[in-house]
Amino acid sequence: MNHDQLTTLVDHLFEDISAFQRGRLITTASSMNLFNRFSGEYRSIGEVKRKSEDKEGLKRFCDALTGLGLLQKKGENYRCTEISELLFTDHAEFDLRPILRLQHRGYEMWSELDRAVKKGQAIKFKTVGKGLFNPKFIHAMEARAHFRKEEMAQELKKYIWRGKVLDLGGGSGIFIRELLKIAPGATGVVADLPGVIKVAESYIKEDKLQKRLKTEPLDIINDNSYGKGYDLILIAAILHIFGPPKNKRILKKTYKALKPKGKVVIMDYIMNDEHSLPHKGSLFGIHMMLATSEGNVYSETQYRDWLKRAGFKKIRKVTLQGQSDLMIAEK
Ligand SMILES: C[S@@+](CC[C@H](N)C(=O)[O-])C[C@H]1O[C@@H](n2cnc3c(N)ncnc32)[C@H](O)[C@@H]1O
Repeated sequence: MNHDQLTTLVDHLFEDISAFQRGRLITTASSMNLFNRFSGEYRSIGEVKRKSEDKEGLKRFCDALTGLGLLQKKGENYRCTEISELLFTDHAEFDLRPILRLQHRGYEMWSELDRAVKKGQAIKFKTVGKGLFNPKFIHAMEARAHFRKEEMAQELKKYIWRGKVLDLGGGSGIFIRELLKIAPGATGVVADLPGVIKVAESYIKEDKLQKRLKTEPLDIINDNSYGKGYDLILIAAILHIFGPPKNKRILKKTYKALKPKGKVVIMDYIMNDEHSLPHKGSLFGIHMMLATSEGNVYSETQYRDWLKRAGFKKIRKVTLQGQSDLMIAEK
C-alpha cells in the first residue's frame, strides 16, 4: 500500500471513528425539542433558550447543527432547514422522531459494548427487554419502514393478491396495511402482544381498513397455534429477536397455520455464511446482543435449514433495495 492509499484509508477510518458524534448531535437536538423551537421563522438563541440551558452551550450546539445542514444561520439567528422541518418537527411530513428517540437511548446501551462482549450477552436487557415493545417502539417501527413499505407491498403482491394474510408480530401492521391497499381481494390479521394490537388498531382505523384487516392478541412463543387457513404469513423483523431453537418452533407453527401451497415470507437481515455481511446486519447483530437476551442475525443457510426442517419447499432469497431481504418458501 502506498502513502496516498494509506492516507485515504486513515481519513475514512477517522470518519468512522467519530461518526457517533454526528448521530449523537441529531438525536440530542431532537430530544431537546430544538428543531421545533427553530421551526418556521429565524429565531435568536435568546428567544428559544430555556432557563436550564446555557446560552454559549446552545450557540455552539446550533452552529454544529448548522454545519451538518440541519439548521441554517442568518446573522445570529437560526431556523430549520427544509430537511429538518420535513423530518423532525411537529408538522413533519414524515416524522422520523420516534426513530431518533430509540437511537438516543441506544447510546447508553452501546456504551456497554465492552462489558457485553466479555459476557457474550446483554448487560441491561432486563430493563429494556419486557418494556421494549411499547407504543413508542411501535411508532418507531412504523417510521423506519415508511420509505420502504411500497417496495415491500409490491413484492408481497406478487405472491398474494387475494386470500388471507397473517402478519405475525405485525406491530403497527405497516406492511400488511400497504399490501391490502394495493390488493383489494386480500384480507388479513395483525397478530401481536395485547398492548401492541391497540396501536395497530389505531393505524388500521386511520387507513380505513377495519373491514378487511383484523387484529388478534397472540404470543408467538407461548401460544401453541397461530390459527389456520392462511394463504400467506409475513414474519417481518421478528426472528432476530429470538435464538435458533425458538425460531425453529415459530416456523413449524407457521407451517401448520398455512393452507397447502401457502407461503411464508420472512423479512430480516439475511447474512452471508461468515455472518459478516451485509455490514449493517452484523452491526445489528451486536445491537441485538446488547438489547435482548438471545437475539441475533442469521444467514441464508440457517434460514434454509430451519424452513426445510419445518416442511417448507421452494425456498428462495429475494434481495430488496433497503436494509432487509426476504426468505420465501411454500408449504
Ligand atoms: C421489530 S418489531 C417488528 C414489527 C413489524 N413486524 C414490522 O416489521 O414493523 C417486533 C414485533 O414483535 C412483537 N413481538 C415480540 N415478542 C412477541 C411475542 N412473544 N408475541 C407476539 N409478538 C411479539 C413486538 O410486539 C413487535 O411488534
